[in-house]
Amino acid sequence: MNDKKVIAVAGATGAQGGGAARAILADPESGFTVCALTRNPDSPAAKELAELGAEVVRADFYDEPSVHKAFEGAYGAFLVTNFWAHGSAAKETEEIEVLVRAAKAAGLRHVVWSTLEDTRELLPLDDERMPVLQEKYNVPHFDAKGEGNELFRQAGVPTTFLNTTFFFQGFLSMMAPKRAEDGVLTLTLPFEDGKLLAGVDVDDIGRTALAILKDGERFIGQTVGLAGDHLTGAQNAEKLGAAIGEPVRFQSVPYLPLPRRTGRRRDRQHVPVLRRLRPGIHRRP
Ligand SMILES: NC(=O)c1ccc[n+]([C@@H]2O[C@H](COP(=O)([O-])OP(=O)(O)OC[C@H]3O[C@@H](n4cnc5c(N)ncnc54)[C@H](OP(=O)(O)O)[C@@H]3O)[C@@H](O)[C@H]2O)c1
Repeated sequence: MNDKKVIAVAGATGAQGGGAARAILADPESGFTVCALTRNPDSPAAKELAELGAEVVRADFYDEPSVHKAFEGAYGAFLVTNFWAHGSAAKETEEIEVLVRAAKAAGLRHVVWSTLEDTRELLPLDDERMPVLQEKYNVPHFDAKGEGNELFRQAGVPTTFLNTTFFFQGFLSMMAPKRAEDGVLTLTLPFEDGKLLAGVDVDDIGRTALAILKDGERFIGQTVGLAGDHLTGAQNAEKLGAAIGEPVRFQSVPYLPLPRRTGRRRDRQHVPVLRRLRPGIHRRP
């Protein structure tokens, strides 16, 4: 067992990191084992990882030595930061800087960094179609991660840049269809009819990270873009309807009038839909 190479997994109790940790632990041929980072090793999610065979260690991005310690002796890492923990691109950048310094100090041989495109490379900041947010971003949680890529490069950390996209699981929570006043389940999304939305099953992110790590050095320095499908709003509604067994209609709304996302908002309207799609689903701690 101890001849296995250790992969340190940030966000291991969450969706992406959890997928990566489970993918690694489920593959006895991978030659890897998992060191799962969490701020709370006593949480049910952390205990579940320990039961699957992970070494669970306490680490907090805001306690830099704890991250350095967690990476010590590891071969590689799957790294993700959680913008939604605070909603601040500046804080996410600080977290990325901590991860980069710790990866460098530990001499990690291969990091898979879960990132997103810097949208400013596609749409200049002065384009009036988008407001400027948090002083210098179009889409803070995308742009800060995309900007963070350069920090890995500058530090010389051997990194694969894994561009992820919208998790299909979002249709089971915040973006779930809701029953409109006329009684029809309605998928409301802030993009135009006919435009394609890239989506991915979050577990495929972990499986892809494992494939990249297993492949060795070929993907170091490369960007890997990942999507399970590209569907219009109407196509997503149709697929959800087929899964639920009840028609779902797509409603396009402009971006700006959407209520500001406030993190774990107590909007329970989607719960019946969620239960029908995933009868066994349990609430995350
Ligand atoms: N939702 C989407 O469609 C989507 C698509 C693409 C990319 N993303 C990106 O995905 C990221 C979130 O990933 P996720 O959905 O996998 O997260 P998640 O399920 O919400 O879990 C968050 C994870 O981050 C860890 N964490 C948070 N703050 C930490 C800190 N200070 N120190 C150490 N660990 C910390 C948590 O660990 P503990 O609580 O155990 O400490 C937990 O494991 C966001 O940045 C978002 O932009 C989301």
